[in-house]
Amino acid sequence: MRVRPETSADVPVVHEVVEAAFGGAQVPRLLDALRTSVAWLGLSFVAEQDGEILGHVSYTRAWVDAPDRVVEVLVLSPLSVRPDHQRHGVGTTLVHDSLALLQGRDEPLVFLEGDPGYYRRLGWHPASDWGFTAPSVRIPEAAFQAVRLPSYDEAVTGALVYPDVFWRHDCVGLRP
Ligand SMILES: CC(C)(COP(=O)(O)OP(=O)(O)OC[C@H]1O[C@@H](n2cnc3c(N)ncnc32)[C@H](O)[C@@H]1OP(=O)(O)O)[C@@H](O)C(=O)NCCC(=O)NCCS
Repeated sequence: MRVRPETSADVPVVHEVVEAAFGGAQVPRLLDALRTSVAWLGLSFVAEQDGEILGHVSYTRAWVDAPDRVVEVLVLSPLSVRPDHQRHGVGTTLVHDSLALLQGRDEPLVFLEGDPGYYRRLGWHPASDWGFTAPSVRIPEAAFQAVRLPSYDEAVTGALVYPDVFWRHDCVGLRP
């Protein structure tokens, strides 16, 4: 299996993978909207084996409202593995190898909302420990996680600000 940048030819299959992984239309719609938004940086990756796409991950632009300036950061969302290929390490490899491809970038950190039981093993850390607040009080503190990139600067702290797309698609935090 290899992790590589998504091409335009992959987009329809990626849509299917995301829909199957999340079991509904909300997250694939979010991804479609991200693709045409200011948040889109083209940082979309697929896990491919024998010509088949088994998983997908995207990183998009967000901001931290730091004390002295607004700083661009990345948000990992969504992460999807085809249901018939889950629990075989595809998600782990996708996150690990795609993060490796981001090491030369200027953003200091990547954030996500996710199950700490899954992401801690992959090296993610509670973002609140490093001085960040989540974009919504509906994001449990333990779920709000980050990894540092080589451009990390400890002076960058503050609130994570999502682009409007996440709000328009109601894809922030948990609802009862
Ligand atoms: C979450 C997801 C990306 C994991 O991908 P994967 O390829 O199945 O994960 P891996 O094989 O790398 O890791 C599997 C391990 O992670 C753990 N794990 C898997 N999904 C988990 C979850 N949702 N929560 C907590 N732990 C999870 C399990 O402990 C598993 O280990 P085990 O098989 O020894 O029990 C995949 O299950 C998926 O697409 N889920 C639906 C969409 C989703 O929830 N995306 C993440 C949103 S933040």
